[in-house]
Amino acid sequence: MSNHYFSNLRNTLIANTPDKKIKLFKTLYQNFLEDKLIFTPTNEIEIFKRPAYSTFCNIVDQREVPARKNLASKEGQIILLHAIAHIEYSAIDLALDACYRFQDMPKKFYEDWMKVADDEIRHFLMITELLDTFDVKYGDIDVHQVLFDASMRTQDLIPRMALIPRYMEANGLDANAMMINKLKKTPNTQNIIDLLEIILEEEVDHVQKGDIWYKYACNQKENFSCNYFNVVKSVYPNSFRTNKHVNVEARKKAGFSDEEIKILLGK
Ligand SMILES: [Fe+2]
Ligand SMILES: [Fe+2]
Repeated sequence: MSNHYFSNLRNTLIANTPDKKIKLFKTLYQNFLEDKLIFTPTNEIEIFKRPAYSTFCNIVDQREVPARKNLASKEGQIILLHAIAHIEYSAIDLALDACYRFQDMPKKFYEDWMKVADDEIRHFLMITELLDTFDVKYGDIDVHQVLFDASMRTQDLIPRMALIPRYMEANGLDANAMMINKLKKTPNTQNIIDLLEIILEEEVDHVQKGDIWYKYACNQKENFSCNYFNVVKSVYPNSFRTNKHVNVEARKKAGFSDEEIKILLGK
């Protein structure tokens, strides 16, 4: 491995198996923490045409992925766990892509998103370990590429931070809490609940990091009024349909203002 941070990030992003990606990341992260890397920008910043998981996952339209239902059944639990594994695996790349794409940021930016990538790997491994007990591996079930598309559609820092951590990961806080409540009414799912609770707690921190860097990006830009809802809607016009399951507590911890939460609740 060379000591060039950004080209190593690219290699890690395009690594086409979980094993390769995780190994490359671990070495890179170790070198990063030991301050052994150089941060010269790359000549080109590539816009990836397809996600690296396309070599071992069958990618379908979001509406065609198997529905998460009947959580009391083995099949239902497998579909749920596989969907979460896919979100976590995609999230590794989202964190790495932020580091790779924005090459002139303060060191703290890279520290934050490398830490997030490390968390996402841990989440991914926790879930795939449980999937293993069902004899299912990541890639066995169809997946969508919504998160990848969202990242490639946001090549500037403000929309990227607004859309990925502060919209999509924040929606995950709502969805995760909702799922935990559902599972609490479903027998024999405590092992899944335990994992979701760990993930939920750590995801608050990811959204909070997104909040900090979103606000940083807005402050850098003179004469630009940064309205979170407008920024997100400029990329995805149909966002923010009324959400009755806003995880108010988690979102507040992650930096959402009372005013923003009111709007999210449709008040
Ligand atoms: Fe995660
Ligand atoms: Fe995350």
